[in-house]
Amino acid sequence: MIRRRRRIQPLRRTKPVLILGIESSCDDAAAAVLETHAPGQATVRSSVVAGQDEIHGRFGGVVPELASRCHVRSIVPVIEGALKLAGCELAQIDAIAATRGPGLVGSLLVGLMCAKGLAQALGLPLAGVNHIEGHLLAPLLEHRVAMPFLALVVSGGHTALFLVEGFGRYRRLGGTRDDAAGEAFDKVAKLMGLGYPGGRIIDEMARQGHRGRFKLPRARVRGARFDLSFSGIKTAVALTLRDRANGADAAPHDLAASFQEAVVDMLLKPTLAAAREHEVATIALTGGVAANSRLRQRLAAEAESAGFGVVAPSLKYCTDNAAMIALAASYRLLRAERDPLDLDAEASLAL
Ligand code: KG4
Ligand code: ZN
Repeated sequence: MIRRRRRIQPLRRTKPVLILGIESSCDDAAAAVLETHAPGQATVRSSVVAGQDEIHGRFGGVVPELASRCHVRSIVPVIEGALKLAGCELAQIDAIAATRGPGLVGSLLVGLMCAKGLAQALGLPLAGVNHIEGHLLAPLLEHRVAMPFLALVVSGGHTALFLVEGFGRYRRLGGTRDDAAGEAFDKVAKLMGLGYPGGRIIDEMARQGHRGRFKLPRARVRGARFDLSFSGIKTAVALTLRDRANGADAAPHDLAASFQEAVVDMLLKPTLAAAREHEVATIALTGGVAANSRLRQRLAAEAESAGFGVVAPSLKYCTDNAAMIALAASYRLLRAERDPLDLDAEASLAL
């Protein structure tokens, strides 16, 4: 007797599919409802984010234990908020997507466990998502971008250049050898006593500062054109601050502007070189640091004058959110792929 293998049914394609996305990899608990009918074609019905800046602010950085405890309290209200804003009930959701790594394992587990519980209880397919893939595809939430495109992912945990060749096909061209760009912003803000998260504060201060006032180094990694390093600049800022003779502490706006300009210089050089080498039409800027006004302004100007198109998500989709997680799951869910319910969180999940 020939046994017929049970086929997994693709998600219904006659009507749009509703995906509930959940994200909790670091200090933001987020949920979103995404409506989609084809890969890369999606409408965000809702996107809710509960941040924890007030909790971690006084420590100058994310405290993992506090982050996961806070997620435990906020994840259910955030999911309920996303459903309400989308005007739908849990019963209308077709699939669940959640970040499974990389990130803080205690934080990841809260969102992933919640997603697994919902998938089990409602009998829905589950997709675990790589957080970086979410950032890479975030520009597609609002823009049509032809593939391949080059993506510069700049966040608090990651800084890398990827060639996005298709859904699920990402080639890492280079990235930071030490700190992420956002980490450098946060650490420099801490050194300057500015608060957390530092990126937005430095961005605002730099508007009133003189960019050429302090000469800070632009690090290069020998033999790796698309690699970056941000640990040296952090030390250079620390030394500048210590050197009272040059009046650094009397000119925090100038120091913020000089630091930001150096980071932008270091990010733009390999990005434009990679875009040229790989002959892409478009450069996508994504991740929390993509919110930086000077980076957006200079990338737009310099990439466009070199003949490349530039896309960047609006600010709410640059920083961590669950709409990008639902989108990164959508192309797999649409072709009937799903993850098992014993899926585990992975702090250093590779893309
Ligand atoms: O993507 P994200 O929300 O979380 C991670 O996956 O890391 O990025 C957070 C990072 C923080 O380091 C924060 O300081 C930085 O993004 N950031 C900025 C700006 N807004 C947020 N950095 C520079 N300029 C900004 N305007
Ligand atoms: Zn992120």
